[in-house]
Amino acid sequence: MSQFLEISGLKARIDADGQEKQILRGVDLSIPPGEVHAIMGPNGCGKSTLSYVLAGREDYEVTAGSVLFKGQDLLAMEPEERAAAGLFLAFQAPVELPGVNNANFLRTAVNAVRRARGQDELDAVAFLKLARTAAKELSMAPDMLKRNVNVGFSGGEKKRNEVLQMTMLEPSFAILDETDSGLDVDALRIVAEGVNRLRSPQFSALVITHHQKLLDYLVPDRIHVMAQGRIILSGGPELAREIDREGYTKFLAEAEAA
Ligand SMILES: Nc1ncnc2c1ncn2[C@@H]1O[C@H](COP(=O)(O)OP(=O)(O)OP(=O)(O)O)[C@@H](O)[C@H]1O
Ligand SMILES: [Mg+2]
Repeated sequence: MSQFLEISGLKARIDADGQEKQILRGVDLSIPPGEVHAIMGPNGCGKSTLSYVLAGREDYEVTAGSVLFKGQDLLAMEPEERAAAGLFLAFQAPVELPGVNNANFLRTAVNAVRRARGQDELDAVAFLKLARTAAKELSMAPDMLKRNVNVGFSGGEKKRNEVLQMTMLEPSFAILDETDSGLDVDALRIVAEGVNRLRSPQFSALVITHHQKLLDYLVPDRIHVMAQGRIILSGGPELAREIDREGYTKFLAEAEAA
């Protein structure tokens, strides 16, 4: 079967104060269309780095490997081209944009993607109607669209706003990087429901998480464990429960012995 997302031997490093630091050390990962996969792994193993490299953040240098997205060379594409091709990334720490109206920001992003996909742009009225409906489904307060992007938003409100962006941008592949701090059980459910609502044979997602609870809501098709810049183990949902019970040490030791 032709894979939707195919990461092979991906290595990436960062220039940290003049010193090259290798972070991804050969990531292999395939996600078929229609599947939701999760990545777990100890702090600092490279999970967020992987999502940044996939999204095209400049400060990471890819030194080896390839990423095919729907048969295209993802790494050769500009970040905007990746978005137009259907990639969406929710950051671990969403940026605050003082002075930028949330609804205008979102409409600009949505219309850029629509233009690139050959769809008609949405005018302000049509956009607001769709955005209000989507915001309501996420139980967002009506004024969230009028406020500045993420400014003064609580952790849970930022999460809702990310899911709103994802819903409106209609990606075919979403990467969600969850922070383990400060997310209450409702915020986790919102993220999971946001992803579950988009589930279809044409949509895949990669969810980075430390939370068993999120995986309970999400029921991913597959779970991957990352350590020291590689995927060391993959399995079904039971793997997450095993990690929850026993921690990573056992898995890391097994991977090293193998
Ligand atoms: N700009 C940078 N300068 C120096 N080191 C960096 C930089 N960006 C990432 N790193 C290092 O790369 C490693 C991987 O970081 P990354 O954020 O990908 O980890 P993570 O798996 O997402 O961790 P967490 O579970 O805590 O979110 C860490 O050791 C981090 O300190
Ligand atoms: Mg991270």
